[in-house]
Amino acid sequence: MKKITLALSALALSLSAATASASAGCDAGEVVAKLSHVTGGTTHPKVVAANNLADRVNKELDGKMCVEVFPNSTLFGDSKELEALLLGDVQILAPSLSKFGSYTRKLGVFDLPFIFKDMDAAIRFTNSKTGKDLLHSMDDVGFTGLGYWMSGMKYFSANKPLLVPSDANGLKFRVQTSDVAKAMISAMGASPQPLPFAEVYGALQTGVVDGQENTWSNIYTKKFFEVQDSTTETSHQLLAYFFMTSTDWLEGLDADVREKFLAIADDVTQEANQSVKAAEAANRDNVVKSGGKINVLTAAQRAEWVNAMKPVWSQFESDIGADIIKAAAGS
Ligand code: LMR
Repeated sequence: MKKITLALSALALSLSAATASASAGCDAGEVVAKLSHVTGGTTHPKVVAANNLADRVNKELDGKMCVEVFPNSTLFGDSKELEALLLGDVQILAPSLSKFGSYTRKLGVFDLPFIFKDMDAAIRFTNSKTGKDLLHSMDDVGFTGLGYWMSGMKYFSANKPLLVPSDANGLKFRVQTSDVAKAMISAMGASPQPLPFAEVYGALQTGVVDGQENTWSNIYTKKFFEVQDSTTETSHQLLAYFFMTSTDWLEGLDADVREKFLAIADDVTQEANQSVKAAEAANRDNVVKSGGKINVLTAAQRAEWVNAMKPVWSQFESDIGADIIKAAAGS
């Protein structure tokens, strides 16, 4: 009996130590906002933006609000974080726009293959009226969009070189939960396998999947290049994040704190999108310096990828809305 009591009090002590260290740096009386995300390393644009938000809030709202960042799926992985936000277990998130299919179909526009020529076109779209309206596409759920954080264009990697879509025939690719991404992989004659981000390296290493699609920043910081033959510079899709809070939490803040927090959130978003291209270029270099192989497409090879994936647009036109697709494609 005594042994059990001792074990239980040791457990209680270690739990309270864990709570204490998680809130280390926040003072009593401050509103604590936990920011959870799934990316890692030091050079990833989401890591940089999340840390910048925390630094700014912790300095400029000292005594009133405190942001704690939990990277690398250490608090919540991407299958649980949206639910956790609604339950109040986390207050700030920045999930990929490809992970909202159970809440809205409209954000699928960001996943349409080759809809954005480059990140500048995507930024122009997010700054347009249609793009800004989409920040409110989940108001009814209780999700408030604060802004879009760009991550980069996406590239395919596999356990063999992929130069034309038929090279992917019969292969299994890890995708995010997006139905658009699943349809795109099927259009290449390959099989989509949705998996949480934290499981991708292991799935590539053990052969559960043959390939994946991601940005240079994720390919480098998660070391996917170590367990893949090569990465092909397809730029077939955008990866960007929905920087968000729960509406209840935001509305519960004192008006002056909310106003200041929103102003900081906006600044951090502008800065993040200004530096994202340089971060992606640096992480591409990091992949090469670390021994990762890159396949660059000829114009004719690229045209084959575009043609193979183009039919995906019409499959999702009624879900997303023809007007939204037109606005994004014209950005
Ligand atoms: C992925 O799951 O591949 C990405 O969304 C991860 C991220 O947040 O960049």
